[in-house]
Amino acid sequence: MAKKKTKKQDWRQAVPAAMRQAAERRYGAAAPSFNYRWEHVTAVVTLAKRLAALTGADAEVVEAAAWLHDIRKEMKQAHPQEGAKFAREFLPKTDFPKKKIEAVAQAIEQHMGLWRNEPLTNLEAQVLWDADKLAKMGLTMAFHLTGWQLTGGKSATLADIIGHGREADWMLKTLASFHTKPARRAAKKRFKAYWKLWDKLEKELNGRDLG
Ligand SMILES: [Fe+2]
Ligand SMILES: [Fe+2]
Repeated sequence: MAKKKTKKQDWRQAVPAAMRQAAERRYGAAAPSFNYRWEHVTAVVTLAKRLAALTGADAEVVEAAAWLHDIRKEMKQAHPQEGAKFAREFLPKTDFPKKKIEAVAQAIEQHMGLWRNEPLTNLEAQVLWDADKLAKMGLTMAFHLTGWQLTGGKSATLADIIGHGREADWMLKTLASFHTKPARRAAKKRFKAYWKLWDKLEKELNGRDLG
């Protein structure tokens, strides 16, 4: 008797669902008021898709890599390698194009680090790296940080949040590490907006805007 072929899952549903599960596991089953991991990954997916369209990178590779890049975040330093392993095992169970799976895994493997001494050479890996870091800059980062801080179980004043926000001294090095032109351009604007926001907020809290 011929073996019945099981229908493969639609990757555009299966891949986000796998990430959603990982994000919920990380923050507990009860919906937290702010799930930083989910917010970060969904921001990276949006940016990566847009960057792929602007640079000509393979849209399917970039989208799948963006969804899965932090799926093993609990593995800390090893999460890029573990995430790549997950992609190599999970994507064949879906209808994701087989010949593109290795490119997804390699992009995930290379996304580590807030800055780079040597640029990445593969366009899809560059786009994932840029999207991931862009999501850590600008107003997005300021609000993600605020949400993360307020749901962290410790009490935080607005002054604490400003102080924490200003600890991001790595951002200048990140700014110098972007690969693609559109990401570099947006990063410069985000960098300025990020630092300006803390200054403006502090000014309001101190009433210095009263003249
Ligand atoms: Fe990561
Ligand atoms: Fe990330």
